[in-house]
Amino acid sequence: MPKDTPDLLPDAHIDAARYEEMYAASVNDPEGFWGEHGKRIDWIKPYTKVKDTSFAHDNVHVKWFEDGTLNVSANCIDRHLESRGDQTAIIFEPDDPNDEAKHITYEQLAKEVGTFANVLKECGVRKGDRVVLYLPMIPEAAYAMLACARIGAIHSIVFAGFSPDALAARVNGSGAKLVITADGAPRGGRVTELKDNVNKALLHNVLGTRCLVVKRTGDQVAWVGGRDIWYDDLAERVSSDCPPEEMNAEDPLFILYTSGSTGQPKGVVHTTGGYLVYASMTHEYTFDYKDGDVFWCTADVGWVTGHSYIVYGPLANGATTLMFEGVPTYPDAGRFWQVCEKHKVNQFYTAPTAIRALMGKGTGFVEKYDLSSLKLLGTVGEPINPEAWNWYNENVGKGTCPIVDTWWQTETGGHMMTPLPGAHTLKPGAAQKPFFGVQPLVLDPTSGEVVEGNGVEGVLVIADSWPGQMRTVYGDHDRFVQTYFSDYKGYYFSGDGCRRDADGDYWITGRVDDVINVSGHRMGTAEVESALVAHETVSEAAVVGYPHPVKGQGIYCYVTLMNDETPSDELKKTLSDWVRREIGPIAKPDVIQWAPGLPKTRSGKIMRRILRKIAENDFDSLGDTSTLADPSVVDELIENREKG
Ligand code: WTA
Repeated sequence: MPKDTPDLLPDAHIDAARYEEMYAASVNDPEGFWGEHGKRIDWIKPYTKVKDTSFAHDNVHVKWFEDGTLNVSANCIDRHLESRGDQTAIIFEPDDPNDEAKHITYEQLAKEVGTFANVLKECGVRKGDRVVLYLPMIPEAAYAMLACARIGAIHSIVFAGFSPDALAARVNGSGAKLVITADGAPRGGRVTELKDNVNKALLHNVLGTRCLVVKRTGDQVAWVGGRDIWYDDLAERVSSDCPPEEMNAEDPLFILYTSGSTGQPKGVVHTTGGYLVYASMTHEYTFDYKDGDVFWCTADVGWVTGHSYIVYGPLANGATTLMFEGVPTYPDAGRFWQVCEKHKVNQFYTAPTAIRALMGKGTGFVEKYDLSSLKLLGTVGEPINPEAWNWYNENVGKGTCPIVDTWWQTETGGHMMTPLPGAHTLKPGAAQKPFFGVQPLVLDPTSGEVVEGNGVEGVLVIADSWPGQMRTVYGDHDRFVQTYFSDYKGYYFSGDGCRRDADGDYWITGRVDDVINVSGHRMGTAEVESALVAHETVSEAAVVGYPHPVKGQGIYCYVTLMNDETPSDELKKTLSDWVRREIGPIAKPDVIQWAPGLPKTRSGKIMRRILRKIAENDFDSLGDTSTLADPSVVDELIENREKG
């Protein structure tokens, strides 16, 4: 435990009394509460219906503000022009610190997005069409998102670290008309050839998907005539004025693929009205954002955190948001702090894995920079361990910046549980309190009964809908119902476990399904398994997470080879590279252990619980192995355990 925790922020939007009052209102009268707070954004036609939602297993549906109309890009741009046209909307900090940063005002943003929207139209994109973005962290990524929103197209961003195969699956899965990419993506001093990856991904494309290319590096790229278009060529010809499309509150805004417990990523669908209300409100209250503040979320727009807290939440609030193209350790481990000093960042939001990585490099890199502009720090993506929390608090926040530990998910659109910096005395490592409208419950994992009282642990479910909730799995509503509303009927099941302590504060204990969290990136172990068994030498594979000092969790693979294959270190490397190529660098295995046999029940189900314990080096609590078809495989695996 730290010596102290930072004091609450004075003059915050939400103090303790106001939190209690607003929280009570939000759960006692959701219609009244959200009916009022829905007005924080601009509507073309105001809503009269606020909430129509049901978590009943046979009738799951989620609709908010359903008869209202609006446009998200008008909310993020046009409505600010009169009062803050000259204010910086986006600060772009490039990968190379010697290249110049850009300050894009709201006025300029309006022109850029208008132009981009007209370019999309020129490419034949219409309302309701899907557009895949596969881009570096450059302002054009934000322009493209907002341009889609402006004309009512649905964007689906694929993180630029994903492989051509993963990209192809997402292009096909969403039936995308267009992929927007760049020639290359500089990151950490190296360049990822994005256009090359798109070429590979579109090789077998039967949808007639076209490719719009933004110039970033100026590198030579292989071109397919008739399919590929330079952004600049069209941008020169079109007007910068594009009126916003009037969208219904429940029209989809974006699809974002995310990992679950099966091999196939799910297309999480978020819609227009509820999402924007929720993203903007959480951005303002959780970070205590005030006019004129510079807000920096270090995520990539390829993840939900980038959607909600680099682009939509901040811009809807008229904020100045920082987009950083690089990585925390390039050119050295002081980069984050150098950027904080340079742009006088007020709120800084990052992942525990980044903090742990920087912690390992010593305090010298932090001490070099003036961090006095910082008022608040945040974390997201995984539980934060006390050492990392203390380091962040003492060295970055200098003991004076509250740290908001925000628990949420791609599916939730915005923060679900977090301390509010003016209301809640912090507990390092705890997500603490539900945001307005969020009703967390702890269930007994076996009986599914609600566990009442404090000092309890179980699985975390949410009892009722909130406006930022995902609406469906793209093209597969049954899967939505199956995944989130079937294990515990009547509730939204988060997939996380949690503890409610003696004071009623919440602590997230980690996933209870086969999803792991590697460097804050969410990954289904089944995805890695399907990549492994797709290799000709592999007959069977089981993948689990294990504690990793920097990544949070590492990827531990048990691999059974085909009969005629000989295990070797070389083959391990081949398989590791193979997974990296199939999914992307973030999925590269940390450990591969040869497994002549896997522990299975008599019905053939792999007992992952046991594999997890072995990978964790925890042999004393293997539990009952007597139900295994062949208990001796366990001894064999223990004997040959690989060090992570
Ligand atoms: C985990 C990221 C503990 C959790 C926004 C969740 C966290 C998954 C926290 C969602 C936190 C996220 N403390 N665990 N503050 N934030 N998680 O969809 O397991 O990429 O279910 O969304 O990350 O990951 P996703």
